[in-house]
Amino acid sequence: MLARLANKRIVLGVSGGIAAYKSAELVRRLRDAGAEVQVVMTPAAQQFITPLTLQALSGNPVHTDLLDPAAEAAMGHIELARWADLVLVAPASADCLARLAQGIANDLLSTLWLATKAQLAVAPAMNQQMWAAPALQANLAVLRARGVAVFGPAAGVQACGDVGEGRMLEAVELAARCADLFETGSLTGRHVVVTAGPTREALDPVRYLSNHSSGKMGFALAAACAEAGARVTLVAGPVHQPTPARVRRVNVTSALEMLAAVEQAVADADVFIATAAVADYRPQQVAGQKIKKSADTFTLELVKNPDIVAAVAARTPRPFVLGFAAETERVLEHARQKLERKRLDMIACNDVARADIGFQSDDNALTVLWSGGEQVLEKASKSLIARQLVQLVAARLAEEDKAPQA
Ligand code: PMT
Repeated sequence: MLARLANKRIVLGVSGGIAAYKSAELVRRLRDAGAEVQVVMTPAAQQFITPLTLQALSGNPVHTDLLDPAAEAAMGHIELARWADLVLVAPASADCLARLAQGIANDLLSTLWLATKAQLAVAPAMNQQMWAAPALQANLAVLRARGVAVFGPAAGVQACGDVGEGRMLEAVELAARCADLFETGSLTGRHVVVTAGPTREALDPVRYLSNHSSGKMGFALAAACAEAGARVTLVAGPVHQPTPARVRRVNVTSALEMLAAVEQAVADADVFIATAAVADYRPQQVAGQKIKKSADTFTLELVKNPDIVAAVAARTPRPFVLGFAAETERVLEHARQKLERKRLDMIACNDVARADIGFQSDDNALTVLWSGGEQVLEKASKSLIARQLVQLVAARLAEEDKAPQA
């Protein structure tokens, strides 16, 4: 169930306590499960473990100061608070729990705690007598009443020699408790490769052949797949779209570059979604210098580009392949032919003769076809259409998982 942590953004707050050494192992466990981790340390925590250790393990700079202009310029505390899906304080010392319960915002961690809308959790760690103290239990009751998840503590021999409750849970157990806080996404644990945008086929150093694709549909699909828990690789033609959160983007220009990037990315993919408007042809010769204007007519010799989606569908083993069909007439008939000819699992038919959807528009409408099924997705924003399409793909994958292996 650790797969539920895939693509999740976790702020790990480390407060001062001997159990801080276990935070290093926790960062590793969370990252192994696919989560992104940003560490925030209190001044006391830095007496027990160095920021450098947690920086090396998390792959991100460790945040320590509330009023550090350099750190704020990189990722301000409000930005960090907004970034997180979960803020977990582990270990949470008695002092830290008291400040969190009272809403005292006198360091970076306690300020971030107040500023975030993310799920909150604490993993207490302290001496057994402190754990049993009424003041400590009253603070915990306040936190629990506010929906804060409390992980542990465990009982056993303590660093101070006492025996009893107060040991921080082990990293493996904490990672599992974090995972339990998240629902399973429909594509959790899957790798999805998406192509988006147009390709540009150079004629000479200043001119190219291309089309009207803005990349909006493909980028919306990449975002929807990441939201559904997938690891996403987005192979993008030249477009001006911001990279969706939790998506790895590979920029390409031509169809040949897109094919090379897709072949690299698709080796371990579970799903391939071909949204890109790939140029079917490219100039046979690319002039080394700008072509000069001379005769009244100009003949251009074109050669066929490789069909990327068909190449992916021909692989063994192959991912689940969803293609698009941009058509201006007899949309369903042509799309059905593409579904069969390219050996796709599913095709989304896009009527690009309509001015209100398709290329450039913020909206789209699709008819989705697969062997034995059909679903109309009525006109809606591309992000909503993308989510609906992801659910159709996830349902087909779930059916495949259930089907007996040949
Ligand atoms: O980018 P937007 O502005 O948001 O617009 C979205 C869109 C209209 C581009 C998108 O919804 C869409 O319809 N994409 C497919 C465009 C296209 O090239 O369709 P096609 O019918 O020519 O190609 C059929 C399929 O083969 C597509 O999945 C395409 O990616 C793929 N193909 C085509 C040629 C080629 N050489 N390699 C391919 O993989």
